[in-house]
Amino acid sequence: MITTLPKVELHLHIEGTLEPELIMELAERNGIRLPYTDLADLRRQYEFTDLQSFLNLYYANLDVLVTEQDFTDLTLAYLRRAQAAGVRHAEIFMDPQAHTSRGIALATCVNGVSKGLAQGESEFGISTSLIVAFIRDRPAAEALEVLTELIALKAPIVGIGLDSAEVGHPPIDFVEVFALAREHGLKCVAHAGEEGPPEYVWQALQLLKVSRIDHGIRSLEDDALVDYLVENKIPLTVCPFSNVRLRVVDRLEDHPLPSMLERGLLVTINSDDPAYFGGYLDDNFRGLQQTFGLDAPAMAALSRNAVQAAFLTDAQRAPLLEDISSWLEAQV
Ligand code: ADE
Ligand code: ZN
Repeated sequence: MITTLPKVELHLHIEGTLEPELIMELAERNGIRLPYTDLADLRRQYEFTDLQSFLNLYYANLDVLVTEQDFTDLTLAYLRRAQAAGVRHAEIFMDPQAHTSRGIALATCVNGVSKGLAQGESEFGISTSLIVAFIRDRPAAEALEVLTELIALKAPIVGIGLDSAEVGHPPIDFVEVFALAREHGLKCVAHAGEEGPPEYVWQALQLLKVSRIDHGIRSLEDDALVDYLVENKIPLTVCPFSNVRLRVVDRLEDHPLPSMLERGLLVTINSDDPAYFGGYLDDNFRGLQQTFGLDAPAMAALSRNAVQAAFLTDAQRAPLLEDISSWLEAQV
């Protein structure tokens, strides 16, 4: 029942879909020596204490991505799994600086992912768009350079985001980058309020003028911020499994999703880095259903929120909304 609910994924890092088996396969293909004895040893590294402990492994594993084909294969593997999860539309992050900083050309990673998205659209029937996320613990001047190059390359992107180590790297540092993106008609989103304080959510909204907040769960600590998010219908791309694995919350039972919904926030459910956090979008929905006893109308409402929050036209939204309604009618 959960797999057949038509879903939209708005917070998914393509690099975070790199499964241990694919890491091993790409290392072999590219002649890269990994610091793990075998697959079981690699899997043992997936215990995180916070965001940074995850990011250390996430960035280290990217060394196996070298050629354009590697990026295409990574993207196709995600879309294949996403189809099985019932994903119909996905807005996908990639971190260009995680690749350019280790000597991979910008065109190699961007073209590789884009080709995977185009191929996956026809093969798996999932519409997609690409959002480049800038790494907030690298200099803003570097982000500006990369964005300028992406614009010159006419890269097929719909928007920009901001991710990586949040605390100590406030949105205000990236005002110029986001202003340039807006001048070029790009959509703006930012990770904020994952580990960082509500103040970073305010900055993302007021200074970067983002139209969605990624995570945002710490917004609940600031009533005026919650009121603002509700009044302005600002979507939050919430990632429950991620929050548990990065110890933002202790257990799924402690996740603030129920109070976020009660307070009228426009919440969407997402998988963030599914290869690292124990599951894809269907797994996150299933976990929430089992933990909070969400019924079919509640799950359909979460899926509708994501359709509403997506960077789609009303004409593109209509068939998705119809299919969610048909799914709901079929549930007894
Ligand atoms: N990059 C990949 N996943 C991330 C997350 N959950 N928070 C910040 N940066 C990320
Ligand atoms: Zn994220």
